[in-house]
Amino acid sequence: GSVLPSAADLLRWYDRHRRTLPWRALPGQSADPYRVWLSEIMLQQTTVAAVIPYFERFLDAFPDVTALARAPQDRVMALWAGLGYYARARNLHACAQAVAENGGRFPDTVAGLLELPGIGPYTAAAIAAIAFGRPVVPVDGNVERVTARLFAMTDPLPGSRKAIARQAMTLNADKAAIARPSDFAQALFDLGAGVCTPRAPACVLCPWREACAGNRQGIAAILPRRAAK
Ligand code: ADE
Repeated sequence: GSVLPSAADLLRWYDRHRRTLPWRALPGQSADPYRVWLSEIMLQQTTVAAVIPYFERFLDAFPDVTALARAPQDRVMALWAGLGYYARARNLHACAQAVAENGGRFPDTVAGLLELPGIGPYTAAAIAAIAFGRPVVPVDGNVERVTARLFAMTDPLPGSRKAIARQAMTLNADKAAIARPSDFAQALFDLGAGVCTPRAPACVLCPWREACAGNRQGIAAILPRRAAK
């Protein structure tokens, strides 16, 4: 019979395989919202490997959001140079200034975060889950791919995007996920980056291999489908 994907299985896998990343809290500790926000903005169109040295240089130059807010724009742009999508850097600076005016505290809800420059639905959910433990699932390309495979969703992107996102949000409707929203979100990222990869997913290593309809049907590797242009 079919098995539902269990958050407990994913979290057990994460506890053994979690990546160490400079913006991540150590196990059992809470993450710094400034680091989570900065990393999420940098990761919007850039890979983890490319982001790490930029993230380190930013933290050295601007150890907290107030320091970033006070910095001259050209200094921020100079440290961003090479990451691309320069509107991100301008929004980053504007966001830091808005947060600094709020006493340096980031809003701790999705709705509050959405009001800030450069923060859309994905980034708001990522920060709310990772930094503030809100039980929301941030749906990026990785989570979209994992979800389409888990539920063997064969309708092509981009038309299927909303349905996939709705399905992804059901993944944390589980006591184990509700108890660890921050780890659950990051476990989904790590699963997508390391196991449920775009090409040649390593289904034999996946904590959800038995629950995954895509794997059971032998179609995981070709999902999500994409409409022909
Ligand atoms: N991609 C987006 N956010 C991420 C995170 N917090 N960890 C790893 N990969 C990510």
